[in-house]
This record gives sequence, C-alpha cells and structure tokens, in this order.
Amino acid sequence: MKIQQNISLKDYNTFGIDAKANFFIEISSIDDLDQALQLKDHPEIFVLSGGSNMLITKDIEALVLYINIKGIEVLAQDEDTITLKVMAGENWHQLVLWTLEKGYGGLENMSLIPGNTGTAPIQNIGAYGVELQDVFVGCEAIKIDDRTTRSFNKEDCQFGYRDSYFKNEGRGKYIIVSVTIELTKRNHRIHMAYGAIETELVKKKIDKPSIIDISNAVISIRKSKLPDPAKLGNSGSFFKNPVISQSKFDTFAKDYPDAPFYKVSSDAYKIPAGWLIEQCGFKGKRFGDAGVHKHQALVLVNHGKATGTEILKLAEQIIERVRKNFSITIHPEVNIIK
Ligand code: EPU
Repeated sequence: MKIQQNISLKDYNTFGIDAKANFFIEISSIDDLDQALQLKDHPEIFVLSGGSNMLITKDIEALVLYINIKGIEVLAQDEDTITLKVMAGENWHQLVLWTLEKGYGGLENMSLIPGNTGTAPIQNIGAYGVELQDVFVGCEAIKIDDRTTRSFNKEDCQFGYRDSYFKNEGRGKYIIVSVTIELTKRNHRIHMAYGAIETELVKKKIDKPSIIDISNAVISIRKSKLPDPAKLGNSGSFFKNPVISQSKFDTFAKDYPDAPFYKVSSDAYKIPAGWLIEQCGFKGKRFGDAGVHKHQALVLVNHGKATGTEILKLAEQIIERVRKNFSITIHPEVNIIK
C-alpha cells in the first residue's frame, strides 16, 4: 500500500475533470483497506471507484481511497441459478460480458453502464427496464469509523429509483467491498418491453431474442445515444427523471399533450428530464467546454477542459429554466463534490 501525493484525478473520473487529490492510495485488497483506514493523520476519507457518477468541482483534500479490489467467486449454483460474489473493483460492463459468455442471464439489459460493481448498489443502477435490485442478493461493506464488516441484504439496502440506503442514512459511512448477485442459468427472463429494445430487435429481424441479443440491442442503443466517456467526458444521466403527482400531471398533460411519460403508481408519473431539457433548447448546446449532449439532453458533457464548476453552473442554469418553463424541479443524479 503506497500513499501517493498530488495525483491528478483526470483519468479516475469519467467526466475527465482535472482536479487533484492531495493524498491517494490504491486499494487492491480488504487488507489494504483496513490498513488505510487506520492511518491516523487522515481522518477524512474520500472513496473513489469507477468515478462514473461524480462531478468533482474542487481539489480533494481528504485521503482518496481508490477501490480496485478484483475477483469473482461462485458462492452457490444449481441447475437453474448461480450466485456470484463480485468484488467492488470489477468493471461493471466487463462483468456483464463475462456472465453472458458463460450463459448467465440477468445483467444483459444493464450492458455498457460505466463504473464498477461496488458502486452499483449506491444508486441502484438500471437501464432498459431492469435495475440492479432485480438480481441483487446482498453486499458487504466496511464501516469507515470502526472498520467492522457489515452484510447488507436487499431489504437493508432500501432500493428505490436511482436510490438506496447508501445515498441516505448510510451516506459516507461505508465502503462496499463486494456485491452478491443471483443470475439464471436457463429459463432466462427476457425483458424487451422497453420501447427502444423492441424497435432495435425488429430492425435486426430478431423475434425470439437470447440474452446476448438483448445485450447487443442495448449496446447499439446506448452507443447511438450516449457518449463514450473515453472520447467525450460525461457521467451518464446527469439528472434523475422527475416524478410528479396526478394533479400536477393533469395540468402538464393538458399543456403538453405530446410529452412522453411513464405512470409509476396510481398517483405518480415520471417525466423524462431529457425531454424537458430539450424543450428548453439546451440539447447540443455548448458553453465553453461544458455542454449538453447532442443525442440525449439528459447527459452533460466535458468537451475537453471544462472545470467541474463550469459544468455545475450549466446544470444550475438548466434546473432553473426547466423550473421556470414547466414548474417542475429536476435533481442531479450524479454526486456533486463541492
Ligand atoms: N427524450 C427527449 N429528448 C432527449 C432525451 C430523451 O425527448 O434529449 C425522450 C425520448 O424520446 C424518450 C424519453 O425521453 O421518449 C426517454 O428517453 P430514454 O429512453 O433515452 O431514457 P431516459 O429516461 O432519458 C433513462 C435512464 C438512463 C437509461 C435509460 C434507458 C435515468 C435518469 N436515466 O434515461 O440511464 O439508460 O432510461 O433505460 O433514469 C444513467 O443513469 O446514467 C442512464 C444513462
């Protein structure tokens, strides 16, 4: 375990923000983590993993722990299912591809989501009709203040839409070191109801898709809409889709009969923030090096040298305009490090 100083975080966050870490340790094992948490001079800890869901707006003075613990272990299996324990530092998409190669189903709709496995439970990652919670069994986390290990089951995690215990009461208290998931070995549950997937399959003339077909469809859709962080800095959806009440929706639907929406409960509707932002004229716009992606207005991008503050300013401007035009408040999905 080596403490590095004055490290640029540009390659450690998918937005490509060139902020600095005063102190940085790469954690490759649970032992490393235990040692690092005992360093008395650095009481404040900043946990970094895939860096795919954060906007860094300043240099980080806390001790940065870069969680890079690798490994996949089979915990149990029978003819129908397999239970895998995946260490936090495993890249999510590589994991998805590995499971598909072995013929295990469950992760295919979540292909190509950037980031690492350990952070997946924090915001209950999801895409194209499936969320992590659909395959999640539990996770193990180290409590930062006393270095004890705690096992969380699904219920403990209090998953919601892009939400969990780790974003609320548990915020800043734990470092997730492994995630346990259960996948199918046969009789896979195919989720293709999400509109774009069906369209993609029809285009490819596939009517009985395999899990690999679903994954390929998702990869094509994502590639056509979402920028590759290796080429254009971004953090996926910057905002969550707002959920509004029936009465608010009634007025909204009358004013904007063509707006897309999803009914999420008897009294709640989700409105795509990307649509709201596009209507406000931001899609494809650029302010210096901070911009809004040309194919998906929900994604803010760094065209090169934008600072976190510049991107944050653009986000605030978008929130304000959406509020003014639609009386709907949208909230960031990414973690903003101020
Ligand atoms: N739309 C627009 N303009 C835009 C973008 C979208 O009008 O610029 C409209 C689309 O035409 C469509 C609707 O909004 O009618 C929904 O768009 P899309 O299918 O692209 O999904 P989304 O709601 O914008 C969410 C997730 C994505 C996930 C997709 C597919 C959130 C915050 N985002 O986006 O997740 O990939 O659904 O499941 O829930 C992420 O979290 O980083 C992410 C990319």
